[in-house]
Amino acid sequence: MAEKKMWGGRFAESTAACMEAYSESVSFDWQLYAEDIRGSQAHARVLAQQGFLTGDEAVRICEGLDMAKAEIESGDFVWKTEMEDVHMNIESRLTEIIGPLGGKLHTARSRNDQVALDFRLHVADRLALWQERLVALVEVYVARAEEHRETLLPGCTHFQPAQPVSLAHHLLAYCQMFKRDHERVTDCLKRVRVMPLGAAALAGTTHPVNPRAVADDLGVDEIFVNSMDAVSDRDFVLEAVFDGSLIMTHLSRMCEEIIIWANPNFGYVRLPDQYATGSSIMPQKKNPDACELMRGKTGRVVGSLMGLLVLLKGLPMTYNRDLQEDKEPFFDADKTVSASLGIMAGMLKQIEFVPGKMAETVKRGFLNATELADYLAAKGIPFREAHHITGAAVAFAEANGVGLEDMSLEDLQQFSDQINDDVFDVLDYKAAVDRRTSPGGTGPESVVFQIDGLKSWLTSRK
Ligand code: ARG
Repeated sequence: MAEKKMWGGRFAESTAACMEAYSESVSFDWQLYAEDIRGSQAHARVLAQQGFLTGDEAVRICEGLDMAKAEIESGDFVWKTEMEDVHMNIESRLTEIIGPLGGKLHTARSRNDQVALDFRLHVADRLALWQERLVALVEVYVARAEEHRETLLPGCTHFQPAQPVSLAHHLLAYCQMFKRDHERVTDCLKRVRVMPLGAAALAGTTHPVNPRAVADDLGVDEIFVNSMDAVSDRDFVLEAVFDGSLIMTHLSRMCEEIIIWANPNFGYVRLPDQYATGSSIMPQKKNPDACELMRGKTGRVVGSLMGLLVLLKGLPMTYNRDLQEDKEPFFDADKTVSASLGIMAGMLKQIEFVPGKMAETVKRGFLNATELADYLAAKGIPFREAHHITGAAVAFAEANGVGLEDMSLEDLQQFSDQINDDVFDVLDYKAAVDRRTSPGGTGPESVVFQIDGLKSWLTSRK
């Protein structure tokens, strides 16, 4: 005799054990239990409004679901693989608790619209957490930038020393990335917060359901327009994981910089003990493992995005069981993104910047060469020619092991008779930064403007 599944009415034989193990999802989708219960309670209340249940029946269902939730949270709930997923586990426990009335809950609903709702509620909650953590991270960046408005380091292009910038300006560049990430998540949330319940299996239902009322009950903004789309749309998950991939990509760029800066040949930062590790064989080592792991885990999140894109690409309408494979990539990506944002904030708060080391490399890289070329151009020499003259002066300084600012006026004048005493003001590195007053440049006014803008953004986010 076949063991009875919830859907087992037409089956004579029970599922093969290997098939049961292959198809179950409860081992991971149990994580949706809170959303499943929230969604079912809203559904029950609206079923009562619509006259399918009496008020008392809806109350008993909601209370039964609360009991199941308490059991889950205390660890007393027995998850059963043979019940396949979180939805059927909870519904069957509800029926054990309140009797046959539990069987009425699934009226006008299918697991197809149910799972879409649960997952949407879950993704929305997690995205809100990412946003909180992005705000907390930007707050740390801004605080560190404020401390280092006067600290100079070589700004690079092609990872070659290019022009001096303030460390504040460098750090604030990341704030713009994370602020955009936050905005992207806000935009994504518009498409996550959509009510699919009422689509039923795929075609809608003969029952007079009220998706708007369920949406209002759950605080969801929009309702679905097409039932077939409602049960098969996973764009919202892909978008969320894309946003997560980009957050990780931004974090990974910072990690790469910290790893380089922590190398003693740079020595721009000292890693906080709490976020570094040692070597079991080389006693002198302090390794930037947090950054390396974060850089590595970025690949994992991007991998989840790729998996999801491929998952969807060949699916005919509407719900296909393939879609069960959408959960783990999101869970995994979420775990990584949420943790990484927290770790970066914690590490950045404590990291020790070493302005002296940065200043040394500023001096070594001829970072004031553009200043000399601009100086000559300002005296009426065509910029291309000024560029050549400066190049020759750099070659001379390099051969003599000095910086441009260390050359004597006579030495400089061999390259152009337009060079006067005032050149030394221009060759000063700090002046090179201070004179960059163009909007969004590294000059102090722009840096203050950026900090003020970010601070009011942070206040508006709280
Ligand atoms: N565990 C399933 C999933 O995650 C729930 C929906 C199952 N629906 C169905 N028609 N078999 O997709």
